[in-house]
Amino acid sequence: MTTPTPHIECQPGDIAATVLMPGDPLRAKYIAETFLEDVKQVNGVRGMLAYTGTYEGRLISVMASGMGMPSIGIYSFELFSFYGVERIIRVGSCGAYSGDLNLYDVVIAEDAWSESSFAKTQGVSDVDVLSATPDLVAELEDKAAALNIDYVKTRIHSSDVFYRQNFDEYQTIRDQHGCQVVEMEAFALFANAMATGKQAACVLTVSDSLVTQQATTSAERESAFTSMMKIALQMAE
Ligand code: HPA
Repeated sequence: MTTPTPHIECQPGDIAATVLMPGDPLRAKYIAETFLEDVKQVNGVRGMLAYTGTYEGRLISVMASGMGMPSIGIYSFELFSFYGVERIIRVGSCGAYSGDLNLYDVVIAEDAWSESSFAKTQGVSDVDVLSATPDLVAELEDKAAALNIDYVKTRIHSSDVFYRQNFDEYQTIRDQHGCQVVEMEAFALFANAMATGKQAACVLTVSDSLVTQQATTSAERESAFTSMMKIALQMAE
């Protein structure tokens, strides 16, 4: 396939080797406008906004993934395969499965468990746990430590269903599979990194708790995740 691809309208040179991926296009815009310098918008297809700029003088891109594994699957595959992207760090929100986690806590995914068929369909693996790239995880941990930002490193659940009929099932998933939080994209991102020989990681901020039923508002979610962003932005090259 040549560039532009069906879902990304720029050329390979327009995107940095490292891409941060929030789910929400407006959060991508907010990150670009708040943290980056010399910013250029490089994608607008389907409103899936992408920007390239510099952070502390180092090049980085930020592109929205949309919600769910099929969506991040499309964008991450095109970035890895056709745009020369070497590492994608998902920066997202998650729901807490554990009473030990509070709203706004930062989570670094060690690996992701999922009931999704994404990895099997992609042809990379038929296991239900996929690791983030260990070197990237170690680098993120170093950055967090240097910034004095606390985080929890754990297994996460990548779910296809936000509104489960059986709400209490999260306790079984937590107890049987060791997942402390839930989100909806990382497993597919990790599968695509395996498929393309590239690197992927995932940093999350707790936006709600299934245990206490507390939640943040969507406006808070758009802007209040500064700790997570500071860690991820340090990955600029
Ligand atoms: N479920 C799935 N994904 C999420 C949640 C949740 O409760 N919170 C943030 N992302």
